[in-house]
Amino acid sequence: NLAEYSVSSRNGFLPDEIPLERLSDSYYIEWETIIEKLPLLLQTKSLRVSVDRMQVLSTSKLISEPEWRRAYLLLSFFTHAYIWETGGPSERIPPQISVPFLRVSDHFNLPTTATYAALNLWNFATTPPDADLRKVENLRSLHTFTGSRDEEWFYLISVAIEAHGARVIPLMMTAMDAVRANDSSVVTDALIKFSECIREIGEILKRMNERCDPQVFYNVIRPFLAGSKNMAVAGLPNGVYYDEGDGKSQWRKYSGGSNAQSSLIQFFDVVLGVQHSSTKGSSANSFLQEMRRYMPGKHADFLRKIEEIANIRGYAESTSDSEVTEAYNLAVEELKKFRDIHIGIVTRYIITPSKQHAPSEHAGLNLAVASANPTSAKDLHGTGGTQLLPFLKQSRDETRDTRIP
Ligand code: ALA
Repeated sequence: NLAEYSVSSRNGFLPDEIPLERLSDSYYIEWETIIEKLPLLLQTKSLRVSVDRMQVLSTSKLISEPEWRRAYLLLSFFTHAYIWETGGPSERIPPQISVPFLRVSDHFNLPTTATYAALNLWNFATTPPDADLRKVENLRSLHTFTGSRDEEWFYLISVAIEAHGARVIPLMMTAMDAVRANDSSVVTDALIKFSECIREIGEILKRMNERCDPQVFYNVIRPFLAGSKNMAVAGLPNGVYYDEGDGKSQWRKYSGGSNAQSSLIQFFDVVLGVQHSSTKGSSANSFLQEMRRYMPGKHADFLRKIEEIANIRGYAESTSDSEVTEAYNLAVEELKKFRDIHIGIVTRYIITPSKQHAPSEHAGLNLAVASANPTSAKDLHGTGGTQLLPFLKQSRDETRDTRIP
């Protein structure tokens, strides 16, 4: 039962109901006022003072799940805006943010940082209201740090991908049932449809180029997506101190934004039985496992459940029906191609701009994210924390190697 895991049979890991645009209870007016002006407050360097002037609000007036999700989104934006407002990072998050954020995060079993759930899954609206979520044109982001179309586009490409991939979830559940019933033609059909779907989401990913400028992404947007782990060079040697105004306050370190937090992309691997190794230094597997802690708890539970019941690869290996094996290999091949497209995007949006010296107020940060030597592509780190190209290439190669001979 998908609903048990907060998975929508229509929208996949996106919520079934379109995200709330406001918390309607006027109790939360201060939060709503700040988020509305967030880009302006950041540009005028007045976000921190505005937050400091707020009251510490309680979570007791959050009732419905959409309200909790919106609260998580708001507090995620406040946290990263507070840390990364220009002029050097803040090592301290004040109680106005940390107290409610710890409660709201607990509700979802999510960390108190800006995750993929906050920025992507729960941060979109459609025009018209019942529009097809699979078309980027129909979408807008509810909030951004920069107020730029580029930033919206960066998030919305992922939203459209999640929406487009949603149908693969029930499809592959059916395929796993069909394996148990030894109904090879159903398995073959599902794998062919799955391949087609991965190919289409690759086409959506390529559209990143249309409205998100690589320089804007690298120099203006990306600094806000950075985490607090391994960020000594950027000025956060101990992480960030979440001040709760009492004895419970503590230093915390979090990875920054990463698409490895997309449950859909991890679902593809799990359902096909793609194994990511934990050797070769860069340890793709442990990073992917770690990123599950940055997913809503129920989505991470869902992936673990699928891992338990995944049977397609074994079936494709042992069946005498060669059509199943071919369809399986086709799906693996499409997933490998999808990862090639991703590597192309990362090259254009991170590797290439990192080589151009762009003085910016966040230069220290990009230096940190880029590691000690920003000219060496090998040492460049993603905001999630991996060595960017080695990690992505390893994931791509491990996908390719899943092919059945
Ligand atoms: N993980 C992406 C980056 O490193 C967002 O910029």
